[in-house]
Amino acid sequence: MTHNAQISSDFLVIGGGIAGLTFAIKAAEAGTVTVLTKAGSSEANTAYAQGGIASVWSVEDTFESHIEDTIRAGAGLCDRAAVETIVREGPEAIRELIRLGTRFTRVGTEGAEVDSEQEYDLGQEGGHSHRRVLHAQDLTGREIMRALTEAAAARPNIRTLENHVAINLLVETATAGKPGACWGAYALDRETHEIRKVISRATMLATGGAGKVYLYTTNPDIASGDGVAMAYRAGASVANLEFYQFHPTCLYHPAAKSFLISEALRGEGAILKLPDGTPFMKRYHPDAELAPRDVVARAIDSEMKRHGLDFVYLDLSHRDADFIRRRFPNIFKRCLSFGYDLTKGPIPVVPAAHYMCGGVQTDLDAHTSIPRLYAAGEVAMTGLHGANRLASNSLLEAAVMGRRGFAAAREIVASGGGAPPEFPQWDPGRAIRSEERVMITQSWDEIRRLMWNYVGIVRSDRRLERALRRIELIKDEIHRYYWDHLLDADTIELRNLAMVAELVVRSAMSRRESRGLHYNIDHPETGGPEWVHPTILQKPDLRI
Ligand code: FAD
Ligand code: SIN
Repeated sequence: MTHNAQISSDFLVIGGGIAGLTFAIKAAEAGTVTVLTKAGSSEANTAYAQGGIASVWSVEDTFESHIEDTIRAGAGLCDRAAVETIVREGPEAIRELIRLGTRFTRVGTEGAEVDSEQEYDLGQEGGHSHRRVLHAQDLTGREIMRALTEAAAARPNIRTLENHVAINLLVETATAGKPGACWGAYALDRETHEIRKVISRATMLATGGAGKVYLYTTNPDIASGDGVAMAYRAGASVANLEFYQFHPTCLYHPAAKSFLISEALRGEGAILKLPDGTPFMKRYHPDAELAPRDVVARAIDSEMKRHGLDFVYLDLSHRDADFIRRRFPNIFKRCLSFGYDLTKGPIPVVPAAHYMCGGVQTDLDAHTSIPRLYAAGEVAMTGLHGANRLASNSLLEAAVMGRRGFAAAREIVASGGGAPPEFPQWDPGRAIRSEERVMITQSWDEIRRLMWNYVGIVRSDRRLERALRRIELIKDEIHRYYWDHLLDADTIELRNLAMVAELVVRSAMSRRESRGLHYNIDHPETGGPEWVHPTILQKPDLRI
């Protein structure tokens, strides 16, 4: 393993999903760009998005309505300025996705040319009072990724390094309690095992979510919260991590790996039922299946516990079979491959960890609390989602904030602003190759299981305390293992998972009320104005 390679560019983008690529494509107009992706280019949460991207598009819809829906779902914790800005800039961000080649589904024309942009088909999802979700059938994320990766590849200023895992940010020493500036990151090349210094004048953190911290998740394997862990270690403020969103409906099947059944099915009339066929959502919320996601996930969890069920059913079979096959071709095929025909009867579903509403705290220009470090997309906490994200608002936020982040980062790159300090090459010390993989797999499994059991949809003070005690122990073991052994991607991820798990638990413990996605049976009521603020965590000492 060698540790002396260095790469330099004006902009470093850690992450190649919708947020990172939106930023990178714009940044290529202003300088050289390095994009790191920890796996292959197409492996990102973005590629798995089904329902679509929410924005005011129809003439019958209004910004005010989208703003109010977002704020209502956010259970008192949304930042109104963030909501207003992101909602109002949504249409332009979507037009840019279209200009870059994204083909959203159009009304009844199956891809034929249309005269007006109003002819895009608009989906309906929970918590939205209008149809406003642009989609590419039920594979929206894959289509957006196709367009963005092609656009990035066509720009000579962008160099994408796949299979490069960012390990730590390169930050100057803190002074007077303030974190020092960020000048890039150390990254492990998974193929050569080299650890490289990647130097940049502005770094965009766009590493996505952390679903892998839970045993059952809709997220792909890359989602291990690396960005939150790296930023926190470097001294950035992170916020609202207690609000982890559980998607109500994933296919229940041992081989399905929590395959998502899009909320858009409920938007088209799918009904949640008990095994005897009784619908139950009306008992929980007047909007029934289209209630905000936290309400639906908790209702399912409660029915499963009450009746001792492993799953509940979702039924769309009352809709026309051709419509189902046309509107949800991918979900239809996947379900059929597991023996369930959506057109003929109900399918078994369970909730799974889906989306990190909290993250690295940013302002509306994507500035973090670390100079020269920006964050956008799922890794960031802008204030848009509050205590519960409205469906299909995350692709929207990522697209808008990737653009806004570029506008801010361009300034700092253009201003010159001095040369980066000399950072040392990565020093492996006396680390040796590990012979004990079981250390990794065991800790990994423990964290994910305890997060699922103790820090899931329903929490209690005792469960949170237990979770914290165990995580501290595991963290201590990982710390020793980490410095004694040569680094690999699994060890980097495990260390980050443990860090994020601890931050989620600490945030949950400090919120002694129930609100949005955070439900604690020992504090079941929503608290007063003293709780209407983000939960902010920052390392007590700002050493790296
Ligand atoms: P991602 O798309 O997750 O990209 C993260 C990138 O960071 C990847 O390239 C990864 O390789 C890289 N990375 C991570 N760590 C490192 C590291 N240490 N070093 C280098 N690179 C790293 N939202 C909606 O709005 N609408 C939907 O319909 C929708 N459906 C969804 C369905 C599923 C199954 C899932 C999982 C999510 C869905 N979401 C949806 C959420 C949405 O897809 C994500 O929030 C969004 O795509 C996140 O984009 P991003 O650019 O922030 O991160
Ligand atoms: C879905 O299609 O149900 C996912 C939408 C989202 O997570 O926003």
